[in-house]
Amino acid sequence: MSGEMSILGSVILALFLAGYLGQQYLPPPKPRVIGLDLGTTFCSVGVFHPGTGEVEVIVDEKGHRSIPSVVSFTPTGVYSGHEGLDLSDIPPQNTIYDAKRFIGKIFNRENLEQESARYPFKVVFNNGSAEFLVTTNSTFTVTPEFIGSRLLLKMKQMAEKQLGIPIEKAVISVPAEFDERQRNYTIRAANLAGLEILRVINEPTAAAMAYGLHKADVFNVLVVDLGGGTLDVSLLNKQGGMFLTRAMAGNNKLGGQDFTQRLLQYATDRVRQQYGVPPTLKDDIHLLRQAVEVAKLNLTKESHVLLKVPLRLQTTGVKQEEEEKVLFQEELTRELFEDLNADLFQKILAPIRTVLLEGHLEKEEVDEIVLVGGSTRIPRIRQIIKEYFGKEPNTSVDPDLAVVTGVAIQAGIMGGSWPLQVSAIEIPNRHLRKTNFS
Ligand SMILES: *[C@@H]1O[C@H](CO)[C@@H](O)[C@H](O)[C@H]1NC(C)=O
Ligand SMILES: *[C@@H]1O[C@H](CO)[C@@H](O)[C@H](O)[C@H]1NC(C)=O
Ligand SMILES: *[C@@H]1O[C@H](CO)[C@@H](O)[C@H](O)[C@H]1NC(C)=O
Ligand SMILES: *[C@@H]1O[C@H](CO)[C@@H](O)[C@H](O)[C@H]1NC(C)=O
Ligand SMILES: *[C@@H]1O[C@H](CO)[C@@H](O)[C@H](O)[C@H]1NC(C)=O
Repeated sequence: MSGEMSILGSVILALFLAGYLGQQYLPPPKPRVIGLDLGTTFCSVGVFHPGTGEVEVIVDEKGHRSIPSVVSFTPTGVYSGHEGLDLSDIPPQNTIYDAKRFIGKIFNRENLEQESARYPFKVVFNNGSAEFLVTTNSTFTVTPEFIGSRLLLKMKQMAEKQLGIPIEKAVISVPAEFDERQRNYTIRAANLAGLEILRVINEPTAAAMAYGLHKADVFNVLVVDLGGGTLDVSLLNKQGGMFLTRAMAGNNKLGGQDFTQRLLQYATDRVRQQYGVPPTLKDDIHLLRQAVEVAKLNLTKESHVLLKVPLRLQTTGVKQEEEEKVLFQEELTRELFEDLNADLFQKILAPIRTVLLEGHLEKEEVDEIVLVGGSTRIPRIRQIIKEYFGKEPNTSVDPDLAVVTGVAIQAGIMGGSWPLQVSAIEIPNRHLRKTNFS
């Protein structure tokens, strides 16, 4: 009897050992749960590799780690991401972007009309929800969650191609301010793309996880997310390894576009001073805007750049309008860029002060500051935040990929490829209001 037991014991031990050694020496399993960042202007998908402990942000067919949140409808089909963006001029009414601003949101007729005035496509009211009117061979409406589903499907396919296995499960991030309905409609978008959502996490929480703050000994984390058009500040509190959003504030009319606009206004004034007329042709304005955008990006690394733009200025001749071809050249310095935007940059501190006030916290009590969003690359913005808190913010993760990195880590946890003791998540918070400055 006892002999049989010990043989059985040895067999079980051997099986355990084989399993253990197998785990050590076999190639690690491929990740089966993907992490999705369905952003307002860009989307990304990532996976956590249990073998290396690293997050891979998956690239599209052209090697981009983010795809534009753009879906274009044509008589021959529906195109998403860069393909959608490439088709966005023919005609512009059939290219839908910013759908995230509409998903799961309840509107009344008047405020929806105000919203839709900002877009080249047509937004229509349907029983409290927004839909988009598209005309290709026929005229039809599509829902914001359908737009979301096309972007999510594209990212699902990117992941399947990269990993070589079918993907059916995902974790997705949403803005902390999303209510239950907006979260449900985001899940519905994923379901339409053939994805089961295992968990929805807040974007600021994901960004904090990208820096490993779920494993670190910190209590109060402030996340500043400054993108193309909006600023979101969240104060997170860690309680028993779980993140709780304590306060939110922001400015939905402040972002990279505004900084570009100031530089464009300056460049336009310089053209007028040099040649007597401002650029008026649509193509000229477009070229100038593009050049200014590139210059803005370069000024995050360089102290000065040379703006060089060929223009066809419409000068008034003796008898009629004449066209003059010129090569507009202007040196732009970082200092000039900072001066032009000094008042806008200072506006970043208002929501930061508000979340601290609402969270009953002194700025010295903030343990880590996490910067997210492309505009936080601007050195002056980093400096303003650093000076306010008297300490360096966390910036080592690419600010455009911090959210997807964190979501992919959460997906890794959900996929079981993580030591159990660090499966930190967040505490839902249903009754938090967001203060908006704008
Ligand atoms: C739209 O019309 C074109 C030309 O008439 C046709 O080739 C195409 O298949 C149609 N597309 C759809 C989706 O029906
Ligand atoms: C309109 O919306 C309400 C509330 O969401 C819902 O109960 C109702 O069924 C909807 N009506 C139609 C015609 O879809
Ligand atoms: C969201 O979905 C859950 C689960 O399907 C449901 O119980 C809840 O009523 C939904 N809430 C809203 C506001 O749509
Ligand atoms: C911006 O940077 C890129 C690459 O660093 C460079 O090729 C380009 O000439 C720069 N543009 C300006 C306007 O300085
Ligand atoms: C950023 O976060 C890490 C935690 O992962 C921390 O160790 C580091 O000191 C933080 N601060 C800076 C300025 O990088």
